[in-house]
Amino acid sequence: MPGYEIFDEAERREVLQVMETGILMRYGFDAQRKGVNKTLALEKAICDKLGVAHAQLTPSGTTALCTALAVAGIGAGDEVIMPTFTFVASFESILALGAVPVLVEIDDTLTLDPAAVEKAITPHTKAIVPVHMCGAQAHIDELMDICRRHNLILIEDACQAMGATIAGRHLGTIGHMGCFSYDFVKTITMGEGGAVVTNDDEYARKADGYIDHGHDHIGNDRGAETHPFLGMNYRVSELSSAIGLAQIGKLDKILSRQREVKKYMKDALKAALPELKFRRILDEEGDNASFLSISLPSLEQAEKAVKAMSSEGIGGVFHYYNNNWHYIRRWFHLKERATLYRLPQEVLDRMPDYATVEFPQSDDIISRNLSIAINLSWSDEDVKARTEAMIRALKSVF
Ligand SMILES: Cc1ncc(COP(=O)(O)O)c(C=O)c1O
Repeated sequence: MPGYEIFDEAERREVLQVMETGILMRYGFDAQRKGVNKTLALEKAICDKLGVAHAQLTPSGTTALCTALAVAGIGAGDEVIMPTFTFVASFESILALGAVPVLVEIDDTLTLDPAAVEKAITPHTKAIVPVHMCGAQAHIDELMDICRRHNLILIEDACQAMGATIAGRHLGTIGHMGCFSYDFVKTITMGEGGAVVTNDDEYARKADGYIDHGHDHIGNDRGAETHPFLGMNYRVSELSSAIGLAQIGKLDKILSRQREVKKYMKDALKAALPELKFRRILDEEGDNASFLSISLPSLEQAEKAVKAMSSEGIGGVFHYYNNNWHYIRRWFHLKERATLYRLPQEVLDRMPDYATVEFPQSDDIISRNLSIAINLSWSDEDVKARTEAMIRALKSVF
């Protein structure tokens, strides 16, 4: 799963080049930087890799989401549809803009259920933010169709899905904007980092300004630049970009190893346990294969499987139903509206009471799902031994 497992000379070389110039900022210092601008180089590499016109680096996936929402003009009281199964950054970013997070059921793809999305649309709905969870595809074409029919903006959260595709198109590049995370445990890492990508020149221009206090970035004198709108400081350090640049050079290798390991494990599990079900994946070839997700017949069996795998020494098994980060059930801070600051009145009035709203379809799916992280550091022998141990553990619960 994480690119940090394969740090080597490439990352050190890129970082050293930055340190040799001493310029850690992406803007200005043109004479001193001697042509070295790792941030610009990484943005170009992301565009080339994903086949997208623009990429704007941000300090995290969370700030990428905040940037995309701001660029889309999302503000106080606008409703933004998001899934029940995601990372807390989904609702944090929506609330940060003063908007209302509207949580919607997922289906057996572990991503937004388009039928439930359609039902959740109101006159206040402004955007849909599907999440390509665990490296595989949300129903992006159906969701784009809904957006077209209702005049909504689609922001893809592809934070966990760098390199994944659907019918040959990179996830993150299909909606109006896409967001990526390059935090420490993602497919490729900048240590901390993220990106907003888009094919829309106007969104790109706004993102370019928003991450730097609204600067217009015209000319080469920062002091003389004007500010057509208010922004933030969501700039990245050249050191983070240097690491990201080395990592993106390894993306194909990462994806091919993950896919190879996942296929081996999945084939072996299918052969040994014909009754075992898997997450529905819309395009197996395009899965970035950072996780293998299985579906047990019941919550009890899923809990037993976690224990059995742990007894076999298998770590990296996520039962999101009992996890505090990724599923509505244990987002107590959202349920209690535990913000440090006062939420806008529209949010206080119109945000559903998540302490009481129920999501039976999501509960059923997530309670039975286990996602197993695929590591890059495993040797072929490790993969084989792990798979055998997993089969022993799972056999004990059927
Ligand atoms: C689906 C999803 N969205 C957003 C984020 C936020 O990314 P970051 O940790 O870079 O802020 C994450 C991080 O785990 C994530 O998994």
